[in-house]
Amino acid sequence: MANRLGLIGGSGLYRMPALADGQWIEIDTAWGKPSDALLLGTIGDREVAFLPRHGRGHRVAPHEINYRANIAALKAAGCTEVLAISAAGGFHGDVPPGSFVLVDQYIDRTVRGGRSFFGQGIVAHVAFARPVCGRLNAIVAAALAEEGGPHRIGGTMLVIEGPQFSTRAESLLHKSWGCDVVGMTGLPEARLAREAELCYASVAMVTDNDAWSDEEVDVATVIATMGANVVRAQALVSSVATTGGGQGGSCAEGCSHALDAAVITARDA
Ligand code: ADE
Repeated sequence: MANRLGLIGGSGLYRMPALADGQWIEIDTAWGKPSDALLLGTIGDREVAFLPRHGRGHRVAPHEINYRANIAALKAAGCTEVLAISAAGGFHGDVPPGSFVLVDQYIDRTVRGGRSFFGQGIVAHVAFARPVCGRLNAIVAAALAEEGGPHRIGGTMLVIEGPQFSTRAESLLHKSWGCDVVGMTGLPEARLAREAELCYASVAMVTDNDAWSDEEVDVATVIATMGANVVRAQALVSSVATTGGGQGGSCAEGCSHALDAAVITARDA
C-alpha cells in the first residue's frame, strides 16, 4: 500500500504545479462521498493525495463537509500522513494577515455531527491531549523556516461552526481564552484523523484580523489574502512532501496505533 502524504487544502490550493502525473479518482466510503474526487500524483518522489476540502469551485460549506468521508477517503488511498491547510482569522499582532501558523492545539465550538467514526455499538475514546503529530509538525516547522515567510510555530485554533463569521462578542471571548487563530474546519477533521490513525498537521493561513482591530471580517479580504499567499502555500507543501515524511508509525503521539488502547467495547460482545 502506498505511503502517501494526504493534502487537504482550502480555497486557492486547487492547483499544485509541483504535483506530477495527477489523476482525479472518485472514492466512495462507508461514510458517504468526500468533498470531491482525490487528486493522486507525486511531488518529487513522494506519492500524494490531494483533497479540496470544499470541493473544486468551493461548493461545500464548512458545516456541510462530510469530514468522516474525507478522512476515510484519504485513508483508503493509502495516506499515512495528512497536512491540512486552511484559512483562519488571527486574534493578535503576532499572527497578522499573511502569516502561517503551525497549529498545535484546538478549542471546539462546533455543534456539527459526524465527529467520530465510533458509536452505534462500538465505543472508543482516543487520546487527544496532543491533537497533532509532533513528528510531522517538526517537518512542517522546518519547511516553514525554509520557506522564510512570516510564520509562527505553535498556536491554538478556535473552531467555530460557521458558516457565518463570529460576532464581535464571540471574537473577544475567544481571544480572551488565549486562542491564536480561528477557523471553521480544523475540527472534527483533526479528531477523525487521530481516530483513523493518521499523522496529522495543520497550517492556518491567516487572512484577516478577527479580533484585534475594528475591521470586520469579510470574504473579499479572506480571498484576497489567500490569493496573495497561494504560492507560499504551494512551496510549503512541496517542501514537506520532498523532505522527510513517510514515517507514519514512529511519532511520540503514537498516531498510527491510536486505537490500540482506545476501544472499550468487548470484541466478542
Ligand atoms: N476563516 C478565515 N477567516 C476566518 C475568521 N475570521 N473566522 C473564521 N474562519 C475564518
